[in-house]
Amino acid sequence: MSKVFITCALPYANGPCHLGHLRSTYIPADIYARYNRMKMRDVLFVCATDEHGTPIAVRAEEIGKSPKEIADKFHKMIKDDLDSCDISFDYFSRTTDPIHYEISQNFFLTLYEKGYIYEKIIKQPYCNKCKRFLPDRYVEGICPHCKGEGARGDHCETCGRHLDPIQLEEPACLICSSTPEIKKSKQYFFKLSHFEDSLKEWIENNEDLPPNVKNYALQWIKEGLKDWILTRDMEWGIPVPLENAEGKIIYVWGEAFLGYISAAAQWSAKENKPWEDYWNDKTIHFIGKDIIYHHAIFWPALLMGYGCKLPSNIVAGEYLSLEGKKMSTSKNWVIWASEFLEKFDSDILRYYLVVNAPLTRDTDFSWDDFQRRVNDELADVLGNFLHRTFSFTGRFFNSQIPEPDAFDEYDKEFKDRITGIPEVVSELIENFKFREGLIEIIRLAKFANKYFNDKEPWKAIKEKPEEAANCLYLCNQLAKTLSIILTPYIPVKAPQIMEIMNLHNFETSKWESAAEFIPAGHKINKPKPLFSKIDDSVIKKEKEALYENLKDDDEMKNIISIEDFAKIDLRIGQIIDVERVEGTNNLLKLRIDVKEKKLQIVAGLAKKYSPDEIKGQKVVVLVNLKPAKLFGIKSEGMILATSDNLSVLSAENAEIGEKIK
Ligand code: MSP
Ligand code: ZN
Repeated sequence: MSKVFITCALPYANGPCHLGHLRSTYIPADIYARYNRMKMRDVLFVCATDEHGTPIAVRAEEIGKSPKEIADKFHKMIKDDLDSCDISFDYFSRTTDPIHYEISQNFFLTLYEKGYIYEKIIKQPYCNKCKRFLPDRYVEGICPHCKGEGARGDHCETCGRHLDPIQLEEPACLICSSTPEIKKSKQYFFKLSHFEDSLKEWIENNEDLPPNVKNYALQWIKEGLKDWILTRDMEWGIPVPLENAEGKIIYVWGEAFLGYISAAAQWSAKENKPWEDYWNDKTIHFIGKDIIYHHAIFWPALLMGYGCKLPSNIVAGEYLSLEGKKMSTSKNWVIWASEFLEKFDSDILRYYLVVNAPLTRDTDFSWDDFQRRVNDELADVLGNFLHRTFSFTGRFFNSQIPEPDAFDEYDKEFKDRITGIPEVVSELIENFKFREGLIEIIRLAKFANKYFNDKEPWKAIKEKPEEAANCLYLCNQLAKTLSIILTPYIPVKAPQIMEIMNLHNFETSKWESAAEFIPAGHKINKPKPLFSKIDDSVIKKEKEALYENLKDDDEMKNIISIEDFAKIDLRIGQIIDVERVEGTNNLLKLRIDVKEKKLQIVAGLAKKYSPDEIKGQKVVVLVNLKPAKLFGIKSEGMILATSDNLSVLSAENAEIGEKIK
C-alpha cells in the first residue's frame, strides 16, 4: 500500500485559530488526508503547536507569566479549534515535547559536524538595563528601508522586509524602552548560500510544485541566498547543543520544521510503525503563502545538508481577508474559529472556505456571501436534491430503491455523469484543486435537480410509473455517490447521507466504491433535513457584532497620547501690530509677542475683528506650527479661535510667553 506523509504548518501557540489559518492550511490538508485514506493509501497526517520564538516570550513577559504557561494554554485552545473543525490528525504534538528537543538538537549537531553550520561574531543590540541581548521582536524602531515605525528587529510590517536588528533607526528595548547599545556576540550560521544551485535545480525540475511556490522560490534564489543566522541569545528555546554556547538557543525557524518529524516519531512510538517509510514514499507540506520562503528554500536546504529525502510537494494556500479588509488580530478584525463553530456547523464553514476561491488566490470572507452560498448552494441545490429524492422514495416506493426500467437518453446522460463524477473529482483533489472538485459536485447536483423537475416523478408515478422509477433509481444512486465523494469536504454531513440511505455496512469509506450502484430493493431510512438556511437576522447580528470592533478602531484613531499632546507648543502671546491683508476681506496680518520671539501670523479674523479692536489682546498661540505662506505672506503660527464664531481665546490675566499645558 502506498504511503503518504501529510503535514500542516505548525500554528504558533500565542493565539487561537482564526478562519484564515483554516482556509489556507488546515482544511485543505484535511481534505487531502481524508481523500487519501479513502483511496486506501496509508496516511500519516501530523501537526504540532510551534511553541518557541520571541512572540511567545515577549507576550509572557508582558503579562508576567512563563512562556510555557502561555504555550500550554494556547496548545489546548488550538487543539480544540482544530478538533471542532474536524481536522483529522493522526498525531498532534508540541515543540516543547522532550522528543522534539532531542530530534532538533541532533539535527543541529549533524549539520554542525558536516560543516554546514559555522560560528561568527556579529553585532547585536544589547539592553544595558535589562542586561541582555535583544533578538527579533525584543527591539523596535524605524525601518531603514521604508521609514515605517514600529518595525521589529527581524521584520518590518510596513514594507514586509526582513531586517537585521542593528539596522533599525531609533531602536528601543521593547521591555524597558531604553536605547540599546551594540555589542558583539557569537552566533551560529547555516550555510544557505552553499545550496543555491542545488535548490534551484530541485525547484526548477520539480513538476509537481504549484506555480505560486515555484515562482516565489525561484525569484528569491535569483536575488541570491545569504547564510541564515540560526541561533539567538535568549532563554526560551532549545539550547544549542555545543560547548561554549551557554545562553544560546536554536532560532525558532531552525527547529520548528523538525516538529513534523518529532510528531511523526511520537506517533511511531505509539503505533509501532516507522514514520520514515511514510516520509520516504511521499511527503506533502500544507502551508500558507507567507511561509513559502521557509518551506521552499530554508527547509529543503537544511534537509540537503542533513542528507535526507526532500518533500515531494509544498501546497501554499493564499490569504483570507475579512469583509474586504486585511485581518488583524490586534484590531479584533478577525473571526475566531471557536466563536464561529459555536454557532455554525463545521461542515458549512469547510464548504464555504473551499468553494469561495481557488487555494492559489487570496480571497475574502464576507457574511453575506457566506449566507448566500450556504442558502443557495448547500440548502437549495444539494439539500433540496437529497431531500426530495429521499422523501419521494419514502412516499411512493415504500422507502425502497425502485427497480429501473429501460433508460431514455436523458437517463443515460445522468447515469454517465453519476458514474463519471468520482474520477473527475479525484483527479482534481490529486492536483490540490479542492475548490474545482466541489464546484463539479455542485454542478452535478444542479443538473440532478433539473432532471428531477423535467422528469416530474410526482406526475409520472400515476401515468408512467416506470419513468418515475428510473428517475428515483438514479437520484438515489447519485445521493449515494455524493455521500462518498463529499466525505473529504464535509466529513460530518456526508456520513449522515449514508445513514439516511441505510448504508452503514456498505463499503462507504472507499473512494473506489463511489461509482458502484446500490441494488434495487435496498431500503432507506426516513429522511431528515441536512442543510438548513441561515436566516437574515442571524447574519445581521454577526455583522453588527463584527463592525462594532471597527467602530472602536475608528474612535481609537482619534485618540492621541500624552506624547502627541506634548508636541503642541501653546503660549500666551500679545498682539502688538495688526493690518488688513490687501485684496482679501477676511485676513489679518498680525505681529505677536510671545516673549521668546515675535511671530508674524496671518489669520482669518478680519470679518469679526477690526485691527483696532484686536490690537493689544492677549491670545493663545500655537507657536511650533510649520511656517506657511498665505497670500504670499509668511505665517509662523496660529491664533486659537472658535471655528464658526471666530472668537479668539484670550487670557487677559496671563503672562506673555506663558506655556499652556
Ligand atoms: N509557526 C509558523 C509555521 C511553522 S511551520 C514549521 C506559523 N504559524 S502561524 O500560526 O502564524 O500560521 C499557521 C498557518 O496559518 C500558516 O500556514 C500560515 O501561513 C497560515 N496563516 C496565518 N494567517 C493567515 C491568514 N490571515 N490567512 C491565511 N492563512 C494564514 O506561520
Ligand atoms: Zn531593556
